[in-house]
Amino acid sequence: MEGNGNPTAIEAIDLVKDYGSGDTAVHALRGVNVRFEKGRFTAIMGPSGSGKSTLMHTLAGLDSATSGRIVFDGADITRMDDDQLTLLRRHRIGFIFQSFNLLPMFTAEQNIVMPLTLAGEKPDRAWFDMLVDTLGLRSRLDHRPNELSGGQQQRVAIARALISKPSLVFADEPTGNLDSVSSAEVLSFLKSSVRELNQTIIMVTHDAVAASYADRAIVFADGRIVADEDAPTADRMNALLMAERERATRAMGR
Ligand SMILES: Nc1ncnc2c1ncn2[C@@H]1O[C@H](COP(=O)(O)OP(=O)(O)OP(=O)(O)O)[C@@H](O)[C@H]1O
Ligand SMILES: [Mg+2]
Repeated sequence: MEGNGNPTAIEAIDLVKDYGSGDTAVHALRGVNVRFEKGRFTAIMGPSGSGKSTLMHTLAGLDSATSGRIVFDGADITRMDDDQLTLLRRHRIGFIFQSFNLLPMFTAEQNIVMPLTLAGEKPDRAWFDMLVDTLGLRSRLDHRPNELSGGQQQRVAIARALISKPSLVFADEPTGNLDSVSSAEVLSFLKSSVRELNQTIIMVTHDAVAASYADRAIVFADGRIVADEDAPTADRMNALLMAERERATRAMGR
């Protein structure tokens, strides 16, 4: 992997994450070394339970690492305290959760602007309108999450992650609940926002077509990176995933 020569947005060095300890320990990340460059859109694929969400949560400082380092804009975030991490996440990192994590008592609009409300800031109205219209949420703004479909909740979560124009965006299956047309719209939008805002996006997806929108795709298996492709195509990613499944099946038979 040669990369695009851009400066590093975030880097994991020997990153280990264990859940629990002793016999019941789960080794979710087994010494991951990976560098994500600024202005690049990377997809992360791999089997369920392989550690994709764990990698994203740990990189974003939402979950602590067991060992290793995470360097974001030159600073090691594994050494930051909660206040420093909160500021970082509020202003510079956007996170689209696999399970949305919308606040049920608030409307779609209030949820979208929540990161700014918490920071005591006002949204850039033109950017808010752009997000709402691109994501097709205009008519749903006054509704609470339980009055929205899964796809609409997902789009609210996307708008919320992007409202503060973060330089680094983590998206955990952002199109998992969208139909193919909405999914293509969201992916094109993410791709253009990488180009226009020089944003760095790291996106988990189970969909090889979604991964083909990215500049780079990584395959994760059992807490490790097993493939790293530039300019991924859907066919290539499906072939890599199939090969990984066959390898895992053979390993189980032994
Ligand atoms: N809080 C936790 N406590 C214990 N084990 C956990 C916890 N969170 C995740 N795990 C385990 O860590 C491993 C990696 O989980 P992770 O959620 O990162 O997988 P994933 O690749 O995102 O899967 P999926 O595609 O299903 O979302 C799994 O074995 C999972 O059961
Ligand atoms: Mg996951």
